Amino acid sequence: MLDYIYPEEEQRFFTNREHTLAVLGLSRDLLGQGVRKHLALSGFRRVGKTVVLKEFLRRNLQPGSAGSAGDCRLTYMDLPRLALTPEGFTVKYVGYLLYWLAGDLHQRVESFFDASAQLAASGQMGAAFSEHVVRLHQELQKEKPDQHLLLELAFNTPEVYAPAAGKRVIVILDEFPEILALDNYPQIHDVLALFRAAMQAQSRVVYVVAGSMIGLMERIFLDAASPLFVHFQLETIGPFGREDCDAMVRKRLSMLADPVPGDVLAAIYQVTRGHPFYIYATAMRVIENISLLNKPLASATVQEAFTLETLGSTGRIYNLCRYVLEQSLQGVRGETMPQAVLQVLAQQPAGMTLTEIAARLKRPSGAIRQVLTWLADVDLVEQREDKTYSYRDPVLQIWVAYYYSGLQLTGMPSQKVLSNLVAELMVKYERVANELGLAKESQVRELLQAFNG
Ligand SMILES: Nc1ncnc2c1ncn2[C@@H]1O[C@H](COP(=O)(O)OP(=O)(O)OP(=O)(O)O)[C@@H](O)[C@H]1O
Ligand SMILES: [Mg+2]
Repeated sequence: MLDYIYPEEEQRFFTNREHTLAVLGLSRDLLGQGVRKHLALSGFRRVGKTVVLKEFLRRNLQPGSAGSAGDCRLTYMDLPRLALTPEGFTVKYVGYLLYWLAGDLHQRVESFFDASAQLAASGQMGAAFSEHVVRLHQELQKEKPDQHLLLELAFNTPEVYAPAAGKRVIVILDEFPEILALDNYPQIHDVLALFRAAMQAQSRVVYVVAGSMIGLMERIFLDAASPLFVHFQLETIGPFGREDCDAMVRKRLSMLADPVPGDVLAAIYQVTRGHPFYIYATAMRVIENISLLNKPLASATVQEAFTLETLGSTGRIYNLCRYVLEQSLQGVRGETMPQAVLQVLAQQPAGMTLTEIAARLKRPSGAIRQVLTWLADVDLVEQREDKTYSYRDPVLQIWVAYYYSGLQLTGMPSQKVLSNLVAELMVKYERVANELGLAKESQVRELLQAFNG
């Protein structure tokens, strides 16, 4: 039933995340008792926020299952897919809600995106709800609709639905920070304040939102100046630990071997550091190289697979890194200085201080500090406790180092070239990842000491 948004392949290989699923389940159960606990999931790009939300939907949509939602109705939407004018946003927001509330997931969501379909669907959901949707469309038809009112009506739609249907509603908004694009409309100005006002006046709706920009998510939910400060519980989705990584690899590689050899499991964890998307990419390349090139199922094949995925222009990791870099730099004013800083940092496993970076680039440290703040805002770099700056992700750091050195594989290199590359990349990568690991360890040590005191 969900296949259309949650492909069967992803369902089959879904691994763990039991803690997050339990937190989501608790919000659902509390809502059933009239207590609202809104959640915000934050985590690195492709770490698995969307899949865990879809898994939650799947478990709740199974009739009669233990995780069944009972009197709660679940709705899900991905905000970048909503047209980003207030009028377009309103129509799609309501369209998605109607699609999920109508309860027949075999239909296509697009069929809910026009006025007549929305009026027809809401007509079957009680008079009060139908009136609400009619009012919204009357506003939309005006020459100059009141955009503020439109968003208010849209945000209130699930709350109007709930009493009429005798239900409560969970509204899941993926890529939530995209909503900020609406701030560009002068009538809207502060969409988060508008959202909060609607949310606070509701009692039967709980919100679960997700977003990739960790810095931005923290600013929206943890900054005292933000309208949503203290309204949501922020949950971080991190990479897998060793056990979950092994479990995912066993599933992915079960077609090659059962059991999967221990050194292969260790090698995959070593290169991916438990990042689910990197595990997926590496495992797929291992399968390809074994099936097409007759490589053995061994740790050397894992390292080759990771190298090809990261440095080859068709590699999944290569393309993710490139996308992340391009996307992140789009939001940063004047791309050349940020890129120069990223290049310099990519060469330094141990991280660098502001003074060191400024000296290397022969620029005043004030200007470099500004660039570093931007880069931290878009999650590319972070400042550690010891004041040095470094990449957040060792794979991205390695990728940037090779990318700017001009190395890029466009085909399959000879075995000799590949072996040399693998050896070189592994040494570099080990150094970067260990430095980041050590920095994390010292952070934990300091935290523990603080607790001691
Ligand atoms: N729990 C998991 N079990 C198995 N595979 C996973 C899991 N989490 C993530 N993956 C793999 O990683 C990929 C990316 O996951 P997903 O799209 O959920 O990430 P995301 O955090 O929503 O990314 P984005 O930041 O781009 O929105 C999935 O397609 C899947 O291959
Ligand atoms: Mg996602």
